[in-house]
Amino acid sequence: MTDLTGTKAIVIGGTSGIGAAVAQVLAERGAAVTSASRATGLDVTDADALSRWIAGQGPFDHLVFTAGSQAPGGAVDALDLEAARRAFDVKFWGSIRAAKAAAAELRPGGTITLTSGFLARRTVPGTFAKTAMNAALEASAKILARELAPIRVNVVSPGLTDTDAYAGMETAARKQMLEGAAAKLPAGRVARPQDVAAGYLFAIETASVTGAVIDIDGGALIN
Ligand SMILES: NC(=O)c1ccc[n+]([C@@H]2O[C@H](COP(=O)([O-])OP(=O)(O)OC[C@H]3O[C@@H](n4cnc5c(N)ncnc54)[C@H](OP(=O)(O)O)[C@@H]3O)[C@@H](O)[C@H]2O)c1
Repeated sequence: MTDLTGTKAIVIGGTSGIGAAVAQVLAERGAAVTSASRATGLDVTDADALSRWIAGQGPFDHLVFTAGSQAPGGAVDALDLEAARRAFDVKFWGSIRAAKAAAAELRPGGTITLTSGFLARRTVPGTFAKTAMNAALEASAKILARELAPIRVNVVSPGLTDTDAYAGMETAARKQMLEGAAAKLPAGRVARPQDVAAGYLFAIETASVTGAVIDIDGGALIN
């Protein structure tokens, strides 16, 4: 078990779901963790505020970005493109803005771990916005891993994970959706945020891993 005592980690999106589980596991390993989101006053769509906030946190060792779980669904011909653009502004451009600002603040041995999602590489009609921004993030992270080296840059790609991203659903419908998905997945279960958090920890503590996409999807991509 890697001891992260003496290191500092920033988790943007760390106030909920997968990010909160990452913040917890890093803190359990001894890291000093700062979590941020709109709930703490940080909106990643405000480019200047985000850069200033990250500069104010430096120097630090690890950036994790999990912010932005919402994106409009539906066929492209009927899609609200303005809503899709706003989703990109949070998750895709937020990730890139954060990585750019963090690069100047990371100590030697530093890491950046971004978040995509299994739809990046799964063709499901009606999921254009999620597929496009997750695929763009996976491709961009590989470029960042080359350009920012020796900073290591990786992506965790979750499958369906039981988090507050589904808090807007009615309880019975949410339960049915999660149980239905679990029954179809090769792993026979939908991930808990803690399962996905293990992927971020792996990326952070494994010194040979960079430019990687770590799938934690219950087997969704082989289904
Ligand atoms: N859960 C799944 O099934 C699943 C599947 C595939 C991929 N993923 C990906 O995993 C990541 C985390 O998802 P999750 O399920 O943990 O979602 P979540 O529980 O909804 O958490 C999302 C986090 O993003 C923050 N956030 C949203 N908009 C923001 C903004 N403009 N500025 C700053 N922070 C913002 C939220 O806090 P505030 O509201 O306080 O801002 C919250 O902390 C997302 O990238 C999501 O696409 C999730």
